Amino acid sequence: MPVLLYSDKAHMRKICFHIQKGGVGKTSVTGNVAALLAREGKKTLVVDCDPQANLSSWLCTKKPEYDIASVFTGQADAEAAIQQIGGHLSILPVISIGSGLKQWAETELVRSPRALEFFISDLEKLNFDYALFDCSPSLSLLERSVISCMDELINPLSAEFFSIDGVESFANELHHIERSNRITIKNDKIVLNLLNRSFTRHRAFLEELEKLRYRIFVIPQDSRIAECQIARKSLADFAPKAKSLPFFMELVHSIMEEQEK
Ligand SMILES: Nc1ncnc2c1ncn2[C@@H]1O[C@H](COP(=O)(O)OP(=O)(O)OP(=O)(O)O)[C@@H](O)[C@H]1O
Ligand SMILES: [Mg+2]
Repeated sequence: MPVLLYSDKAHMRKICFHIQKGGVGKTSVTGNVAALLAREGKKTLVVDCDPQANLSSWLCTKKPEYDIASVFTGQADAEAAIQQIGGHLSILPVISIGSGLKQWAETELVRSPRALEFFISDLEKLNFDYALFDCSPSLSLLERSVISCMDELINPLSAEFFSIDGVESFANELHHIERSNRITIKNDKIVLNLLNRSFTRHRAFLEELEKLRYRIFVIPQDSRIAECQIARKSLADFAPKAKSLPFFMELVHSIMEEQEK
């Protein structure tokens, strides 16, 4: 019998909460959804692909020796760079100061268009159920390369007038990525973050959004979300009674149900 180093079981589901707009909660949603998937017993990896390193500063329990750029440049393999955060949750971080990620993305990535594909196929050998990717608010070559390797893209939005334009322009960009790579990527969910139902304009925005083709998952404004980041904990660990937690759970259950179908 050959010895299996890694399990050959289920496929690792790759999800990115992304939109080309800043400050809408991409990082907050990614980290908290990942922590909840891990609490549900799913082996979950978060991959910080944003040179701002917000996700890493929030969730890393120790200063990283290696980061995602070390993996791309061949200084470390992914296993050496991954940190276990606790339970079933792990992170492949970015080092906030001095990481070569931005430089690598702007120089080497152009010359190695399949780099992300190879990187993700290495992650797939590590037996994770889910890998959630956090990117910076842009659609440069790095974000496009990450997107082209995903099973699912979920768009986080805040309740602002221009957000609908942002969703439409993201859908166009995604079709372009799908066409040029001859792939299809699931994109049927919107997370409407930072919603305050006491604002008429927020309720009106939600009504507009409901006319589109997406399933809408609402996350309300909740100061505990910002506070858990200062405490360097996930929302579920920091404030198990937070009002936004059941809303995150609804999203997590929907993601898990689809995986199990
Ligand atoms: N539902 C919420 N209620 C209250 N504050 C929130 C909520 N979601 C996110 N925040 C806060 O809003 C700020 C922006 O969130 P976050 O960093 O997750 O956005 P982002 O889209 O990742 O930003 P960037 O585009 O810079 O990467 C953070 O301070 C975060 O704590
Ligand atoms: Mg972010």
